[in-house]
Amino acid sequence: MRVFVTGASGWIGSAAVDELLAASHEVVGLARSDASAASLDAKGVEVRRGDLDDLESIRVGAAGADAVLHLANKHDFDNPAVSNKAERDAVQAIGDVLAGSGRPFLLASGVASPKQGQMLTENDKSPFHGPEAPRGGSENLALEYVDRGVNTVSVRFAPTVHGDGDHGFIAALVGIARDKGVAAFVGDGTNRWPAIHRSDAARVICLGLEKAPAGTLLHAISEEGVSTREIAEAIGRGLNVPVTSVAPEDTLEHFGWIGRFFALDAPASSALTQELLGWAPTGPTLIQDLDAGSYFHA
Ligand SMILES: NC(=O)c1ccc[n+]([C@@H]2O[C@H](COP(=O)([O-])OP(=O)(O)OC[C@H]3O[C@@H](n4cnc5c(N)ncnc54)[C@H](OP(=O)(O)O)[C@@H]3O)[C@@H](O)[C@H]2O)c1
Repeated sequence: MRVFVTGASGWIGSAAVDELLAASHEVVGLARSDASAASLDAKGVEVRRGDLDDLESIRVGAAGADAVLHLANKHDFDNPAVSNKAERDAVQAIGDVLAGSGRPFLLASGVASPKQGQMLTENDKSPFHGPEAPRGGSENLALEYVDRGVNTVSVRFAPTVHGDGDHGFIAALVGIARDKGVAAFVGDGTNRWPAIHRSDAARVICLGLEKAPAGTLLHAISEEGVSTREIAEAIGRGLNVPVTSVAPEDTLEHFGWIGRFFALDAPASSALTQELLGWAPTGPTLIQDLDAGSYFHA
């Protein structure tokens, strides 16, 4: 397949592109900068210059492809409305182009249980609808295109897609622990985060594009729930700083924006994804990755 990939230069996107190329797919990658364009070009990816703020560049990329993989995100966590609007607008632009084509449209999403502590499965619909919702309600918007002849597949990534070079949530938590001289968890630290190694996430994406029927929700999750206390303890070991609890009411003061996520108890399963795709995780666990040390290089 000729796959148009937004976010092709990103953490997950660059691994997904490698996986797609290894599976003999042709990749066209959206790049918004010279540096991103050069990194894609070096891999043999056809570069399409563009930006989430230039929807025409996304429409043209989608129109010329057999499948679209949408991973770009502004990730403005201090001002989520900006990211959410860009995400929703991009999904709408791609959906409108693909309508009636039956072509795969795989987009990134996250795990969000309607009920704290309840194991989220692929059968659970997202509670987020409309532009004001987290991620602009983009998963449900994309699924609306199934009735308009789009093979929409949503991949819900674990809140940590970890590995060597990760600059996501775990790297942010390490930075906070380094700055504060203490590795913290919230309350008793029994709340859980699912996790997946980046190599496994890339595999789920590639298999999802190849195999998943329209309307499928995939869970890119290897570990259903790692306790945040275990995460803080591994960060404490890595930085050689004490590990401590932060009271729930002090979460945002201690952690800033990421406290909203780190306080969540969001276990999620991938049993149905593994069965559908014939996939089983093979990468290291989150704690193995933390203990391997790459998160703690200065
Ligand atoms: N990583 C995780 O743990 C995780 C967990 C759950 C969900 N997700 C979701 O998975 C998707 C991929 O995440 P990621 O970790 O790979 O993100 P990332 O490393 O931050 O990469 C983001 C990508 O989006 C591109 N981008 C940012 N702003 C753009 C703009 N204005 N126009 C065009 N492209 C733009 C970036 O391009 P440049 O390279 O030029 O900056 C980069 O390719 C996102 O939707 C994310 O929210 C990720």
